[in-house]
Amino acid sequence: MSEKNHRRILVTSALPYANGPLHLGHLLEHIQTDIWVRYQRSRGHECHYVCADDTHGTAIMLKAEQQQQTPEQLIANVQAQHCNDFNDFLISHDNYYSTHSEENRYFSEQIYQKLHEQNLIAERSISQAFDSEKQLFLADRYIKGKCPKCHAPDQYGDNCEVCGATYAPTDLIDPFSTISGAEPITKESVHYFFKLPEFNGFLTQWLSNDNLQPAVANKLREWLDAGLQEWDISRDAPYFGFEIPNAPGKFFYVWLDAPIGYMASFKHYCQSKPLNFDDFWDQQQAVETGTELFHFIGKDIINFHGLFWPAMLNASQLRLPTAIHAHGFLMVNGEKMSKSRGTFIMARSYLTHFKPEYLRYFFASKLSSGIDDIDLNLEDFVQKANSDLVGKLVNI
Ligand code: MSP
Ligand code: ZN
Repeated sequence: MSEKNHRRILVTSALPYANGPLHLGHLLEHIQTDIWVRYQRSRGHECHYVCADDTHGTAIMLKAEQQQQTPEQLIANVQAQHCNDFNDFLISHDNYYSTHSEENRYFSEQIYQKLHEQNLIAERSISQAFDSEKQLFLADRYIKGKCPKCHAPDQYGDNCEVCGATYAPTDLIDPFSTISGAEPITKESVHYFFKLPEFNGFLTQWLSNDNLQPAVANKLREWLDAGLQEWDISRDAPYFGFEIPNAPGKFFYVWLDAPIGYMASFKHYCQSKPLNFDDFWDQQQAVETGTELFHFIGKDIINFHGLFWPAMLNASQLRLPTAIHAHGFLMVNGEKMSKSRGTFIMARSYLTHFKPEYLRYFFASKLSSGIDDIDLNLEDFVQKANSDLVGKLVNI
């Protein structure tokens, strides 16, 4: 088997939202990535591992408001907590940055300008639910009301938890904004769209390379087959994020600047290292230098990384990921983590009881190359820690 003797690799884990503490699902991802990174380094390869907090969006803006602080204060506090947790779990990030950074603003604007110049941004008016008390457009998750079918109260805008009916938020009876309680009105505003359908050919080709796990490629192909839609990349003020150049009151949707945060974190890291940023990101230079880029992500965000992101990169003459490694979701005792069952385990609460190595070992023993969910059975966990780690390893 031939192996390139010195590889130059950049690795990322998905950027955790800055609106709350890390839980063990986040740790599954960072432990998986960290094991891979440490393996590459131990082989003597150059392997840079960067990440950041994902700081923009309505949820973070509202949370800061609730806590009577500025979004900047909130994200600074959360970032400090996240860094602590990652350190204590022995995650070896080379740089942990923030999407609310000058580097990220710069690259987001630059990429947007490139798309704009190539006529890849459409502009049109859409109508949306609007909270006139709060003066805020409402995403579906901020609207509740009575189910149009069974009249159960307090149901979200897309499906009823009582009878299982699915419907549009406009079908709800007596709808109200979960933010102010006011009845939403419908209001028009101009939005900016990334013309994804123009990338149909490019994406078909991208999906035929073997840089994706078969299950991921299949899922993405379903999206392509269903027909790509233009992607809404703007949000109206008030919004915590970056204002779009030459579009006062319009902001980049958080998912536009989030993956660009990978570049921003790496750029920031390069400033203190003898590293050339363009070797890893410029389309041409990446080919010439043979650098590699790997994204580790959960299966819930493969559309962003497997379709939107490659299209943005391609249109901006930036390099494509060498591969995307997606994992399944962490379950606890066979079920989705749940606050009410007490199985929604925060990183910090784990650390107050156990050593990080036990969980790292447990995840290492369960992870695979597929996207099946991974179960943290608590009895199994204790058993494994006691017999394998304490019993065998420590005794040796
Ligand atoms: N901010 C976005 C990612 C932007 S990447 C450019 C996001 N944040 S998240 O905090 O919701 O999730 C971060 C990562 O953790 C994602 O890859 C997600 O799949 C993963 N997980 C979140 N909950 C998880 C589990 N319960 N189990 C395993 N991974 C999970 O999405
Ligand atoms: Zn119902």
